[in-house]
Amino acid sequence: MSLADAHRPTSRRERYSLMADAASRPFAAGAVAIPLALPVVGYLSGDVRVMFAVHLFLGAFWFGTAVLGAVVLGPVMGSLSEGANVEFAKGFVPRMNLLMEPISVGVVGSGIGLAAMMGLWASPSPTLWAALAIAVALLVLGFGPLHSFTAGMFDEIAAEDTDHERLAELNKKYGMLSLVELVLMIAIVGTMVGLRWGV
Ligand code: HEM
Repeated sequence: MSLADAHRPTSRRERYSLMADAASRPFAAGAVAIPLALPVVGYLSGDVRVMFAVHLFLGAFWFGTAVLGAVVLGPVMGSLSEGANVEFAKGFVPRMNLLMEPISVGVVGSGIGLAAMMGLWASPSPTLWAALAIAVALLVLGFGPLHSFTAGMFDEIAAEDTDHERLAELNKKYGMLSLVELVLMIAIVGTMVGLRWGV
């Protein structure tokens, strides 16, 4: 089933089923499985270089998406006409909803695992604690308000009678919070630099 004949979901289960259909089932499976499996593979490899590569790949992906979303896509979506916005969001929102939460868990998981493989938890530096604290804040933001805004946006675009006012309102809130996410993201990359140079 495509979003063309969808409706506003009535339960969480239905929402995810509609989302997976809208994004395509193979995309949904890959979006969840790959970011969660990579850190496990990195850790089980026992090779710190593999884990480092996994962490960089996922971290760069998250950082890049956060910058693109906050600086380019958010403002562009906000300035589209109602119809064009919904058309764009139909393809974009379900895919992003499915992908970004597993990516965030993958980045934080691989970072914690990498620190373990490098023996850094034996006597954690202030920057390692800072990275962990910022990571927790990012996850709370992502799984909390950002999640509920994007779930609401999905509900509206899946509905036949899209409530454009609610969609625009959610879009605006999402845009503002994604700037907070961006600031935290820049801060955590700052802590990565600190880790690299042993601070
Ligand atoms: C948005 C989240 C994150 C991003 C974008 C990110 C990005 C990066 C980047 C670009 C590097 C390579 C630069 C360097 O070697 O320092 C790196 C390294 C590293 N990251 Fe992260 N990271 C994130 C979260 C975390 C978290 C939560 C932890 C652990 C609590 C962590 C632990 C590490 C460690 C241990 C290194 C290796 C440091 C070294 O080379 O000495 N990262 N990260």
